[in-house]
Amino acid sequence: MSTTNAKLLHGRRIGFLGGGNMAAALIRGLLHSGTVTADQIMVSDVKDERLTELHATYAVTTTDDNDELVRSSNVIVLAVKPQIVDRILGTLSNGLKDGDLVVSIAAGVPIDALEARLPASARVVRSMPNTAAIALAGATAIAAGTHATRDDVEIAKALFEAVGRCVVLDESLLDAVTGLSGSGPAYVMVIIDALADGGVKVGLGRDTALLLAAQTVYGAAKLQLETGEHPGRLKDMVTSPGGTAIAGLHTLESGGLRRTLIDAVEAAAGRSAELGEQMAKKLRR
Ligand SMILES: NC(=O)c1ccc[n+]([C@@H]2O[C@H](COP(=O)([O-])OP(=O)(O)OC[C@H]3O[C@@H](n4cnc5c(N)ncnc54)[C@H](OP(=O)(O)O)[C@@H]3O)[C@@H](O)[C@H]2O)c1
Repeated sequence: MSTTNAKLLHGRRIGFLGGGNMAAALIRGLLHSGTVTADQIMVSDVKDERLTELHATYAVTTTDDNDELVRSSNVIVLAVKPQIVDRILGTLSNGLKDGDLVVSIAAGVPIDALEARLPASARVVRSMPNTAAIALAGATAIAAGTHATRDDVEIAKALFEAVGRCVVLDESLLDAVTGLSGSGPAYVMVIIDALADGGVKVGLGRDTALLLAAQTVYGAAKLQLETGEHPGRLKDMVTSPGGTAIAGLHTLESGGLRRTLIDAVEAAAGRSAELGEQMAKKLRR
């Protein structure tokens, strides 16, 4: 995280409305990055045992009262399931103070649907993180709402950079992001599982095959990110004439791996748009 972004988080009171998987991942990342201290974080949830666990693990302040959370925070991270958002917008709207920032991680809930139910000048940033945030290796895209300032966007970016990488895009691209990085961990899990099956087929034990498969995917991704090289060039580096990699690659091409992955991203992005439209209709009623 850049020092400028780290500074932007200094002294902010960050409230997580909903203390589930994504909230815990963000809290862990924020504390781990050292830019936010536990006394800057508050979490609200409907489950007492969840709050007890979050307090015990991270020493953050907890409450079962969403009103108190909104009152006490100046960055409010909306971290409940999309279907719950409708129910908590009233609380959020009543408690929001001038200058507060709302960062929504609720998948598929459009900015205009949130803004329509919040005070007229409410500052909103919408995000699309992914599950890899739990392992501090998330891929997140964020989009600014109508009244979000440049600093608001940088604050939201800093939150997500504590748990991985973050890009700033126009909201119209968030369905595409959902199809790629939002849903992507599921595709890659299938690829890892299938590679491990391949390892077992050629004689490796299951545990060894899975470890080698997962580490290979991790290592290849890390190599690309760290070198910035085109993946085609990195592929060519391990593909010697008449060798093993080209034999495997030929099989992947015959099986249509590229086309299938492109179709998968397109199908998921399309489904995200459909679900977003349904959600927007429900919230605008
Ligand atoms: N997980 C992902 O990979 C991912 C990726 C992108 C975006 N997101 C988005 O992130 C958001 C959170 O996802 P998650 O996986 O962290 O969900 P989660 O684990 O279900 O967390 C949500 C938490 O909020 C609690 N809650 C329910 N109603 C509440 C209320 N009225 N007030 C306060 N807390 C309440 C839930 O309790 P109960 O369980 O009792 O309902 C739960 O503990 C979702 O909107 C999702 O779309 C998640």
